[in-house]
Amino acid sequence: MSSNNVTLTTPDHSVSLPLVEGSLGPSCVDIASIYRETGHFTFDPGFAATASCKSAITFIDGEKGVLLYRGYPIEQLAEQSRFLEVAYLLLEGELPGTAEMAGFEDAVTHHTMMHESLKNFLRGFHYDAHPMAMLCASIASLSAFYHDTLDINDPAQRKLAAIRLIAKMPTIAAAAYRYSIGWPIRYPRNNLEYVDRFLHMMFEVPSEPLEMNPVAAKALDLLFILHADHEQNASTSTVRLVGSTGANPYASVAAGIAALWGPAHGGANEAVLKMLAEIGDAKNVDKAVARAKDKESGFRLMGFGHRVYKNFDPRAKIIRAMCHDVLDKLGVNDPLLEVALKLEEAALKDDYFISHKLYPNVDFYSGLIYKALKIPTEMFTVMFAIARTAGWIAHWIEQHEMPGGRIGRPRQVYVGAEPREYVAIDKR
Ligand code: SDX
Repeated sequence: MSSNNVTLTTPDHSVSLPLVEGSLGPSCVDIASIYRETGHFTFDPGFAATASCKSAITFIDGEKGVLLYRGYPIEQLAEQSRFLEVAYLLLEGELPGTAEMAGFEDAVTHHTMMHESLKNFLRGFHYDAHPMAMLCASIASLSAFYHDTLDINDPAQRKLAAIRLIAKMPTIAAAAYRYSIGWPIRYPRNNLEYVDRFLHMMFEVPSEPLEMNPVAAKALDLLFILHADHEQNASTSTVRLVGSTGANPYASVAAGIAALWGPAHGGANEAVLKMLAEIGDAKNVDKAVARAKDKESGFRLMGFGHRVYKNFDPRAKIIRAMCHDVLDKLGVNDPLLEVALKLEEAALKDDYFISHKLYPNVDFYSGLIYKALKIPTEMFTVMFAIARTAGWIAHWIEQHEMPGGRIGRPRQVYVGAEPREYVAIDKR
């Protein structure tokens, strides 16, 4: 093996495969020629050791618990930035100057309204439809309204689609929620900042003005920063795979919303709250940990474990500290917080969790904060989707800007029937 390639030896071949070096992280073996040179595919279900693309947006070091957005540590962005500035950073690659930020904010603010026909679309759902179903369908439908942003090869159209998605996601999310509780939909108020505007659309009622709560707005803005991007996670990889077919940005992001919904991914924050409520009391924690270790139970500690982080999820550390602060400031005394703390303490001392390197992830504490902000449980994954829209569309744009893009089309290990003759039904 020389410094920039590796040699793969099979019973019949010895091939030299180039190494692909990034600016940070492990180098990768370029296996694109492996089938042509050896007749073998590679096999990596779940893509645990497979890089699907080159990207300059986010870097994660799972062993050290490092998360960088365009090179900036998540801890510094959480401390000093705000979601809309982070969205700009993810999209443009650099922090904005004052004028650039003002221009971006103005563009987002003036694209927050949704087409009036979308109201009729939402009315087609039953009141008890899950808001993720309404959000996914509504975002996919945007391509039916905005024909001026469907040319994926036009950088200006790609950028306008990004602005529209970041701007309209909160409006549509709030409209879905309001529809599900029978409240009139609220139009976005341009005099409010991004998160305040969302909270106003969620909670303002015609009968009385909504008193804005700076603690709630700051907490939600921070949660949006922490959820904005995360490299090639399942939903972002879905957006890229759909985007690789040439599908429009709205269809690509709608596919990401669908992927995020699963309880193994973004649906975990909703599942954590349900799990904590099911455990109910700190005295039941040891039983829950025992169940999570019993493979037969099929039960997992939701909010624990991560494909990449084999140490504390840096976002979980920030959210954990914020959880205490926000609940204190809002005067919320949630008994489920005690259950969560006890569960975390028990799991982090348990050999099974230590040996499997299972630590709390971003979803473990976020639900407790959403609950304190009076956001209903079924809206938790919608919160995740609002934030992750910035990352999804940044990756979608990056894949179209990067030369040499090809349609994603994995191979397989076929384990089905070998060739056989058809038999007429009366002879079977
Ligand atoms: C997110 O990818 C991302 O970056 C995602 C995300 C993002 O920002 O986009 O970070 C957001 O999705 C966070 C993860 C939220 N999901 C959950 O909290 C659900 C609970 N966690 C898991 O189901 C699991 O840990 C995953 C899905 C997160 C990771 O799955 P992996 O990497 O495929 O690991 P695995 O399922 O193969 O498990 C490895 C071992 C198994 O035991 P063994 O068979 O090897 O003995 O660990 C065990 C699992 O049984 N295990 C757990 C566990 N998670 C893994 N056991 C108990 N409780 C758990 N939570």
